[in-house]
Amino acid sequence: MKTYIVGNWKLNFTVGEASVYLHKIQKKIANYRDIEVVVAPTALCLQPLSLQLERSKVRLAAQNAFYRDFGAFTGEISFAELNGLVDYAIVGHSERRYIFHEDDKMIAKKVAASIRNKIRPILCIGETESERAFGETADVIRDQLLGGLSEIGEDEVSKVLVAYEPVWAISSTKDAKIATPDEIAEVVKMIRDNLKEIYGAKVAEEVPVLFGGSVKPTNAGAYLTVPGVNGLLIGGASLILSQFTDIIEVAKRVK
Ligand code: PGA
Repeated sequence: MKTYIVGNWKLNFTVGEASVYLHKIQKKIANYRDIEVVVAPTALCLQPLSLQLERSKVRLAAQNAFYRDFGAFTGEISFAELNGLVDYAIVGHSERRYIFHEDDKMIAKKVAASIRNKIRPILCIGETESERAFGETADVIRDQLLGGLSEIGEDEVSKVLVAYEPVWAISSTKDAKIATPDEIAEVVKMIRDNLKEIYGAKVAEEVPVLFGGSVKPTNAGAYLTVPGVNGLLIGGASLILSQFTDIIEVAKRVK
């Protein structure tokens, strides 16, 4: 399986800044056959950046979109509009869940809309610090995973990528902590066990599982060698050219 290195730029960079930054990334990295480098800029950047993209080196992801294709939904953009512009879409990021109150039902519709429009969803799941403290991690992971996949057919599950992002490890969370490889391994096993139980062993093996939360060049190697981890979803460090490209180098070495 490929290794996925996904940069989530969140609400950073103007269109001009994003264009310059993407240009620098493309200049600095080679074309890696086994590593899929993906960046997720703001929605406004997707059209212009898609035109300047060397697709062999970098692919685009949307950070979010609405689940209905067209209609009276003021202010939204849809997966149907993104069809052809992006290869991936982040769905259910914890910032969408907690700031914009997206629940598993809405996230499931977005996963389905993404697949319907030929965009691979990156379904983000992860427990908060208090959920972990109360021993609820396994239940939260199961609910968010199976809830998120509930609107698609069994034959479509292997088009989904799952990103395990414990909310307490995301760098913008107050008092963020660094997840240990053992903590990640335990949850990644839960994810694959749930997939196996519901969709069978083949699907459980085919679904890429990414880790995200304070990933840096210094911990990327340890995280990428956690059994069952196929890539990284990177926020803060993806905004710094040297850090993002160093993580890609680490991924290449580990592979
Ligand atoms: P971080 O963000 O790498 O800054 O912790 C990860 C994310 O929110 O996807």
